[in-house]
Amino acid sequence: MKPQAAPLVVRTALREAFAELRVAGVPSHTLAAELLLMHVLGRDRTWLYAHPEKEISARDAENYLALIRRRAAGEPTQHLTGKQEFWGLELEVTPDVLIPRPETEHVIEVALDRLGVREKHGGRPQRPDGAVLQIADIGTGSGCIAIALAKELPAAGFVATDISSAALAVARRNATRHGVAGRIHFLECNLLDGLSGSPLATRHSPLLFDLIVSNPPYVGRREVATLMREVREHEPEVALYGGEEGYELYAGLIAQAASHLKPGGILVLELGHNSLPAVQPLLDSSTWTNVSVTNDLAGIPRVHSAERL
Ligand SMILES: C[S@@+](CC[C@H](N)C(=O)[O-])C[C@H]1O[C@@H](n2cnc3c(N)ncnc32)[C@H](O)[C@@H]1O
Repeated sequence: MKPQAAPLVVRTALREAFAELRVAGVPSHTLAAELLLMHVLGRDRTWLYAHPEKEISARDAENYLALIRRRAAGEPTQHLTGKQEFWGLELEVTPDVLIPRPETEHVIEVALDRLGVREKHGGRPQRPDGAVLQIADIGTGSGCIAIALAKELPAAGFVATDISSAALAVARRNATRHGVAGRIHFLECNLLDGLSGSPLATRHSPLLFDLIVSNPPYVGRREVATLMREVREHEPEVALYGGEEGYELYAGLIAQAASHLKPGGILVLELGHNSLPAVQPLLDSSTWTNVSVTNDLAGIPRVHSAERL
């Protein structure tokens, strides 16, 4: 897109942006151009296509041009708009957090399924003893998993950990925005290490969970060349890489989950595209039962879940 002499109208702005992003090899370039114009004008997609001849102010045209250039240079659309939808919730995202992915919604589906919430919607109580569910989200990032579950389970209490204080600041803002901050205790620590020193648990009454969920970093450093530049150059390394192979964090995660789940408690883990062979043997039958694997829409084993004996 060139700076314009004549006033720019919506149709021309979109056409030029489509062309610039396509030439730059931006994936889903049409959608990116639309989302960025929607962001600049504060309008929805229907409005854009209903007003193709509407003039864009010089200031908006300049802002749009700047965003299209940044997108063409590889910055993710979500970093430019500052938001991403997850489970129907609009979440703030910054370069400090992983941009929530659609496949992570399978973690929510599996967790809700396994908690029997869908039956509850059919008339059964959330828990037969009426106790409040305690849930931990390890590596919460933007907070997407904990916040989506908190919206679905209005009586549940949460601990959400992350090793990144910058990510936790974003997660806290997202929780506040969605009215669930009062039920999520955010903790900066490695996996669940911080629990023992926290006022949430004492030596005499350790905090045990009904559900532990996690989407840990699972990309292998040896795979770095295969990542899209949007991911490789713009998303936080600590959120992407699990180690040289990618699956290195699962052993510690599963061991900690075993000691922090109640008997009958549920573990739900997101898997990397090739993590299953390394993770499956860790859910051994002396500790875990009802182990299952759920594929994502692309047919990739994406979610591993199990029940603590
Ligand atoms: C793949 S991202 C997932 C973020 C978010 N839960 C989601 O699903 O979009 C992994 C997150 O785990 C955090 N993390 C990495 N290593 C960790 C560790 N050892 N303990 C706790 N959190 C960790 C990262 O900072 C990052 O926010």
